[in-house]
Amino acid sequence: MFDPVAFIAAKKSGAQHSADQIESFVEGLVSGAVADYQAAAWAMAVCIKGLDRDETAVLANAIAASGARLSWALPGVRVVDKHSTGGVGDKISLVVVPLAAACGLAVPKLSGRGLGITGGTLDKLESIPGLRVGLGEAELREQVAEHGLAIAAQSEAIAPADGVLYALRDVTATIDSIPLIAASVMGKKLACGAPTLALDVKCGRGAFMAEYDDAFALAELMADIGSAAGVTVRAYVSSMDHPLGFAVGNSLEVAEALEVLSGEGPADVVELALTIVAGLLRDSGARPAPRAAREAAGRALATGAAREKFAAMIESQGGDLAKFQSDPPHSRRQRVEVRSAAEGFVAGIDARAIGEVVRSLGGGRLQKDESVDHGVGIRFRAARGERIAAGDLLAEAFVPESGGQTVADSVAAAFDIGPQPALPKPLILGQVLRAGSGTAS
Ligand code: URA
Repeated sequence: MFDPVAFIAAKKSGAQHSADQIESFVEGLVSGAVADYQAAAWAMAVCIKGLDRDETAVLANAIAASGARLSWALPGVRVVDKHSTGGVGDKISLVVVPLAAACGLAVPKLSGRGLGITGGTLDKLESIPGLRVGLGEAELREQVAEHGLAIAAQSEAIAPADGVLYALRDVTATIDSIPLIAASVMGKKLACGAPTLALDVKCGRGAFMAEYDDAFALAELMADIGSAAGVTVRAYVSSMDHPLGFAVGNSLEVAEALEVLSGEGPADVVELALTIVAGLLRDSGARPAPRAAREAAGRALATGAAREKFAAMIESQGGDLAKFQSDPPHSRRQRVEVRSAAEGFVAGIDARAIGEVVRSLGGGRLQKDESVDHGVGIRFRAARGERIAAGDLLAEAFVPESGGQTVADSVAAAFDIGPQPALPKPLILGQVLRAGSGTAS
């Protein structure tokens, strides 16, 4: 019989788990035989002692097997998936999923809630009134067959073990572990059954992996797990020193994603989304030539086809997009202006500091099962590289009733204003590509 206490003690002393032990632990997460506090204690032991590659692959596959494992037979349609390891202002999935669908791909995506200082796609989507992310297996399948896309939560039906561990890790300082992130991401992705996958591994001060070598190791590990399961994986290591785009906070980010889907929006968000979708088109074989793939993605954005897909997904999942647009949650918060005390060039905006401000305002969680405030957040009004004078507007903060001045001070402190224009930095720092065996369906 599985003994959770012995399992935790083994990892605490640095022992390697057997596949049987890991599978029993994952079963126990779902059945309740492993208590929350035991799972959290084990996660902390893993943060300190690690899991090797075999243990991590077994954990990912056990998470995938903890619920239904989907397979797809959509005549003439290639099924793909995308996941980010989490960043500040990272609304890329809200653009990539409808954009890929508008290019003729099908995207059944399981997303996560906010984790640590990074926002979660599900929390962002839930700022749209009525929107449901708890789709059952049948509903997910029907929606993907009809519209080509769905963004849903891991549930009792699909990857339930990740739901339990993810929520605990968020509030027990056990997120930033390469094996735990790899198993969590790949467990969900293997459950969804797409044979082609794009991963966006964030790297920098606003990401769980601050150092390039760690981010690259995470990218390789996830790509190897996917490839061994028959999935073709392209993992990008992308910069997360500064927030992506101009908006950070749940409803502000949905509004910004809508701008991008309408052919506008910040250049970094547009560029990353187009790169990822072009990669999916190539790797899935839908558009093998890089140039044709990129052009197809650009067209789907410019013609409004991607926006239509987004609207179709929101409607199908019960959301009221018109209501969101006429009365977004951030418009019901107090708006505080953040002005510069200095003159110079905006050299950077500290993504970690901004993520912490938004989480402390209620945009993220400090306790498991806490609800989030969809309306709080920050919208930047000065871009990196821009010249500013003392007193210029740097940002707007959307805050609850009180505490506006403290927030404005923290946001202003996150701006690095220097005497020289900042050198442009690449958005994509590295890439890993692993071919699948083609056995994933
Ligand atoms: N995204 C996930 O799904 N899991 C993690 O652990 C981190 C990011």
